[in-house]
Amino acid sequence: MEKSFWIKNWKKNNIGFHNSEYNELLLKHFNSFTLEQSAKVLVPLCGKSLDLIWLATQGHHVTGVEVSPLAVENFFSENNFKFNSSVEEKFKRFSCQGPSLDILEGDFFDLNKEVLGRINFIYDRAAIVALPPDLRKKYTEVITSILTPGDQMLLVAMEYEFPELIGPPFPVFEHDIRAYYEKNFSIKILEEIVKEVDHPRFTEAGVKLWSRKIYKLVRI
Ligand SMILES: C[S@@+](CC[C@H](N)C(=O)[O-])C[C@H]1O[C@@H](n2cnc3c(N)ncnc32)[C@H](O)[C@@H]1O
Repeated sequence: MEKSFWIKNWKKNNIGFHNSEYNELLLKHFNSFTLEQSAKVLVPLCGKSLDLIWLATQGHHVTGVEVSPLAVENFFSENNFKFNSSVEEKFKRFSCQGPSLDILEGDFFDLNKEVLGRINFIYDRAAIVALPPDLRKKYTEVITSILTPGDQMLLVAMEYEFPELIGPPFPVFEHDIRAYYEKNFSIKILEEIVKEVDHPRFTEAGVKLWSRKIYKLVRI
């Protein structure tokens, strides 16, 4: 998806993906991972997710990456957090004066290790599935390059059958996840949840069921 697509959707408040509570799957599965207290967490394509706050309250330092300036502005104003800001390469860094978290405002595909620093854990919720297939391989290459052996990732992917592209969210099947990541990660499915579709754009198109697979990946 073009960046302009997301920036426009944020301006129109077209953000059905946003949860006004912590994500239940994160809360349920986070203890399947072993993280040092000082671990550094990355949330790619973070929107204004409250999960950034939850992860920071677990004692970790969290970095979110988000292209929409409005999403970043909303995150800080809606949570009454003050911040300091600075420019780093192609990003604007917002460092929260409350919980231990930063948001890098800019394009995920401009990330590099200098801007990001060491990362030990990635939380991918509504990130890989937000990207159309032509961007996804590049996304997974950046993710792979960020982590070093032993680092971990919690990934939530959607699966549904439909002959055309009607995302986001786009379906990312287990065979896709394996094709992108199996060479560099051990992959375990923590849970699969199959549900009737409750999203009008998808029900109107005739998609009846979709499933979410929750993965634990460990960099090898
Ligand atoms: C489906 S939303 C998910 C947001 C968040 N992960 C959540 O769970 O609420 C995808 C987000 O990715 C952002 N985004 C899309 N492309 C991006 C890019 N290339 N770089 C950084 N952020 C991007 C969008 O603005 C949007 O906020």
